[in-house]
Amino acid sequence: MQDSPESLGRQLLGWYDAHARVMPWRVSPQDRAAGVRPDPYRVWLSEVMLQQTTVAAVKDYFHRFTARWPTVAALAAAPDAEVMGEWAGLGYYARARNLLKCARAVVADHGGQFPTTRAGLLTLPGIGPYTASAIAAIAHDEPATVVDGNVERVMSRMFRVETPLPAAKADLTALAERLTPAQRPGDHAQAVMDLGATICTPRSPACGICPWSLSCRARRAGVQADLPRKLPKTAKPVRSGIVWLGHRDGAVLLERRPERGLLGGMLGLPGDGWDGAGGDAPAPADWQDLGEVRHTFTHFHLILRVMVARIDGPVTRGDWTPHLRPSDLPTVMRKAWDLAHPALDPTPIPRDAMDS
Ligand code: ADE
Repeated sequence: MQDSPESLGRQLLGWYDAHARVMPWRVSPQDRAAGVRPDPYRVWLSEVMLQQTTVAAVKDYFHRFTARWPTVAALAAAPDAEVMGEWAGLGYYARARNLLKCARAVVADHGGQFPTTRAGLLTLPGIGPYTASAIAAIAHDEPATVVDGNVERVMSRMFRVETPLPAAKADLTALAERLTPAQRPGDHAQAVMDLGATICTPRSPACGICPWSLSCRARRAGVQADLPRKLPKTAKPVRSGIVWLGHRDGAVLLERRPERGLLGGMLGLPGDGWDGAGGDAPAPADWQDLGEVRHTFTHFHLILRVMVARIDGPVTRGDWTPHLRPSDLPTVMRKAWDLAHPALDPTPIPRDAMDS
């Protein structure tokens, strides 16, 4: 009986009531019980951001986004470039474009209110099965099952699933569905994710304080740290390329990247085709080689050589940008900028400082 879904659900919610993590988009289990409802806009925004990176890294982005655009209508009305700028550094820039498309669809087609069911949410651009389930469960208490990497790990251990990922995904989802309760499904979804993030961690799970440890089959067999099994990763290829940082009197030459493809819609330095886009130096100039930066994308490692020159004549590509905010650049371009900018227009040392 202790291992029945109902009993496991009660044990987990008891743990969550005492140990739920505090997050800026989350309604605590106590407030939820008192009738406070999560704002679907904030749940949606946080879930899309959390697909990119950790809770710690998302918090600052989430605060900035919601301070600037407190509602889905405000976000929908924002200029694309401003939203892309705020997203810079989070990665997967297609998500930011879909974020805007989705906000605009909510305003245009749904009167500014997110649909309240998983099926309705799935009709929106950029909302896939994971995000639809998360919003339906967390914001609307629909008993939808939310499965992310944390949940897969917890299920693989609880039920000792030895099939490696990704082949095991369907089985792990089915197991998570079996545990999804009709009561408090939103808190349950967040509780399984919290358990995976704080106790049932990848390398050394803290089984001693886990509310499910007595029922965990992997623990009984002593194999919890080995699960989930994963097929060996294939090595990523290494690409190399060049970017040119042209400058003139404090302005730098930047390009807005094509909407489609890598870093789509983001600002960048003109490049030589490492990204498949092709191109030559934006002008003949005395290009200085400042060395290289390294960055890893989903499918390849990149070694990028950074060239810098002052350009006085006409340019064949790019736009002069007088007030670059480095935080508007995607991470790889930010690395190139960090390497290069000390070489731009060095501030002259004042005469009297030199004399003393
Ligand atoms: N990871 C992604 N979404 C989450 C959530 N709502 N709670 C805890 N961890 C999460």
